[in-house]
Amino acid sequence: MERIDELTKLLNKANYEYYVLDNPTITDQEYDSLIRELIILEEKYPEYKRKDSPTQRVGGEVIDSFKKVVHTTRMLSLSNVFNEEEIIKFDERIKKEGLIPKYVCEFKIDGLAVSLKYKNGMLETASTRGDGTVGEDITHNVKTIKSIPLKLDKNIDIEVRGEIFMSKKTLKILNEERSKNNEPLFQNCRNAAAGSVRQLDPKIAAKRKLDSFIYHLPNPKDYGIKTQYESLLFLKSLGFKVNENFKLVSNINEVITFIEDASNKREELLYDIDGVVIKVDNLDMQDALGFTAKTPKWATAYKFPAEKVITKLQDIIFTVGRTGQITPNAVLNPVLVAGSTVKRATLHNKEYIIEKDLMIGDDVVVYKAGDVIPAVLGPLKERRTGKEIPFKMIDVCPMCGQKLSKKEGNIDYFCLNKECPKKNIESLIHFASKNAMNIEGLGEKIIEDFYNFNIIKEIPDIYKLKDKKDELMLLEGFKEKKVNNILNSIEKSKENSLERVIFALGIEGIGEKNAKILVKNFKNLENIKNAKFEDLVKIRDIGDILANNIVNYFEKEENIKELEKLKELGVMFEYKGKAIVENENFVNKKFVITGSFENLTREEIKEKIESFGGFTSDSVSKKTDIVIAGENAGSKLQKASELGIIIWDKDKLNDMLK
Ligand code: IVH
Repeated sequence: MERIDELTKLLNKANYEYYVLDNPTITDQEYDSLIRELIILEEKYPEYKRKDSPTQRVGGEVIDSFKKVVHTTRMLSLSNVFNEEEIIKFDERIKKEGLIPKYVCEFKIDGLAVSLKYKNGMLETASTRGDGTVGEDITHNVKTIKSIPLKLDKNIDIEVRGEIFMSKKTLKILNEERSKNNEPLFQNCRNAAAGSVRQLDPKIAAKRKLDSFIYHLPNPKDYGIKTQYESLLFLKSLGFKVNENFKLVSNINEVITFIEDASNKREELLYDIDGVVIKVDNLDMQDALGFTAKTPKWATAYKFPAEKVITKLQDIIFTVGRTGQITPNAVLNPVLVAGSTVKRATLHNKEYIIEKDLMIGDDVVVYKAGDVIPAVLGPLKERRTGKEIPFKMIDVCPMCGQKLSKKEGNIDYFCLNKECPKKNIESLIHFASKNAMNIEGLGEKIIEDFYNFNIIKEIPDIYKLKDKKDELMLLEGFKEKKVNNILNSIEKSKENSLERVIFALGIEGIGEKNAKILVKNFKNLENIKNAKFEDLVKIRDIGDILANNIVNYFEKEENIKELEKLKELGVMFEYKGKAIVENENFVNKKFVITGSFENLTREEIKEKIESFGGFTSDSVSKKTDIVIAGENAGSKLQKASELGIIIWDKDKLNDMLK
C-alpha cells in the first residue's frame, strides 16, 4: 500500500511537471518503468488502488451512454464583438453603470467548454456545457487528459471551468493517420477535441492527447477571491493548467493593444485561438453588472475577423420553408472556410441578390458570419468573362408548382399551397425539433421519409404513430428498439409545457421567446385562443404584426381542428411554468435596476418584476416609472433623481416583493 501511495504521488507529480509546467524532471524511460511497477502492484492489490491513480489516464471502462449532468450554476457562453467600435461600446456600457473597470484579457481557446467538480480535492465529475443548464457526463474521457489533475493540492470542494482542446500538431498527426486508414478527416482542432470527448470508449480519448486550459471559477467568493486575476492565480496554485497569456489592463485602449498582440502571435501558437476574451476584473463589479439571458454583461469575446475565401457560384437554387417562404441559396464550389467545407450559403431573398449583383458563374467572396453561418460577401465583377448568367427569380413553387405570392410591403415570396409537400414536411420537422416538442429520434430525414410513405401527413399523425408500430417495423433500418425509442419520445412530448406547443405550431413570427411571453401572460391555450387584438398588443414585445398573426391563426378553422385533434390524442396544453400574477405595485410599470444587492442578483430581481407583470429596461428616461437602486448605484440613480422618478432602495424593494 505504501509503495502504491508513493508511486501514485511520484507519477502524478511527474505528470504535472511534464504536462502543466512543461518542465519534465524525469525521463520517459523512468516514467514508464515506474508506471509499469504501479500497474503490477495495483493488479495484485486492487484494494489499494487510489482514486487519483495515474493508471486511469490510459482509459478505463467503456460506458453505455452519456449521463446527463445538471449544472449547479448555469454554464454561460459569451457575447461577441467584432471590431474596435464594438469593443469601445462594451466598455461604455459598463462605464454607464458608473463603474471604472480594469479588465483581464485572455486568449479565447478554440476547443470545448468543460466543467470539473472536485470533492475533497478529488476529481468527481467532468461535464460538457450542453444547453448551459444540462450537460453530458464526460468524466471517463476527461480522466485521460493529463493536464487535468485527478487530485488537487488542497483537499477542497470546488468547481472549475475551462476549455478542452487539441494542439495543432496533434491534429496534424491524427489526420495523417486517419487519411492512411481512409477515415474522414477532422476539419479543425475544435471538432477533433469535441469528437474525442464524445467517445464512449475512453481509450480513444486517451490516444487523442487532449489538453486543457482552466479559466473560470463559478463561485470565486467561496474561496475569498475578489478578482478574475486572483481566480487565475488561484487556479494555477491548485495545479490546473492556466494559459499564461493573460493580462490585467487598466483601460479599453490597453485591451485593444492586447488584441493586436494576440492577433500577431496567433499563427505561432501551438493551439488554436479564435479571439480574445475581455473580462471585468473586479468580482463586485461583475455582480453589479449581472447577466442577460445567456451571457454575462461583464465579459465579451472579441472574435478575430472571419477568413474570406474565393470560390465559384455554380448555381442559385430555391428552398421552401415551413411558412411557405421561398429562399434562394448559393450553390458553391466546395471550399474550406474557417475550418469547415462550405458548399451552400443562404442568399436570403431576391432583393439581397439584386443588391449584391450576383450572377451565376461569378467568382464570389465567401466567409462565415459570426464564424458559423456561411455567407456570400459579393461577386468579383472584374473577373467576369461574359459567360455569367443573370439571376432570375422564380414565379412558381419549386416543389409543387403553385404560383408564388408576395404580401404587401414584404420582400419575401411565399408558396401558399396548403398541400405543398415541402412546406408540410418543414412544418412537421419544426414541430418535432429540439426547441419545439423535442421528439428525439424523429429527425428531418425520418420525417421526410414518413411523409413520402404517407405515414405522417399532418401534425396529429405523429401521435397516431403508436398504432402503426407494425408498419414502421417493416421499414428498412427500423428495428424494434429504434421504433420504441421514437414512440416513447412522442408519448413524452405530450406532457411538454404549453410554450413549447405554441412554438411548435409554427404561428408566423412566434419564436421561442414570444411563445413564452404569450403563455406567461395568458396562462392557458383557451385564453390565448380567445385573446383579441387589443389584448395582445397591450403586452410589451407583441406588436401589431404579431398580434394580427396570432388572431389570424386562431380564426382559421383548420388550425382549431388541428388543436382539437391534438387534444384528443392526449397532448396536454398545460403551462408548467410560473404565470404572471398581476400585482398593482408592478403591473405595467417600467423599472430600471442599478447597483448591486446583497441577496438577489439583478437577473433575479428582473424575473420577480416580470412575474408581477412589470417590465425592465436598461436606461433611465422620462418613461421610467421606478428605479431600483442598490449599493454603488451611479449615474442612473442621479439621472432618476434629476427626472423626479420614484426610487426604491433595497429595503423598499424587499417590502414590495413581500
Ligand atoms: S469565459 C462566464 N474565458 O468561449 C464565463 N471562455 O464563446 C464564460 N472560451 O463558452 C466563459 N477561452 O467555451 C472564457 N479564456 C476564456 C475562454 C472561453 C475559450 C470559450 C468557452 C465559452 C466560449 C464563449
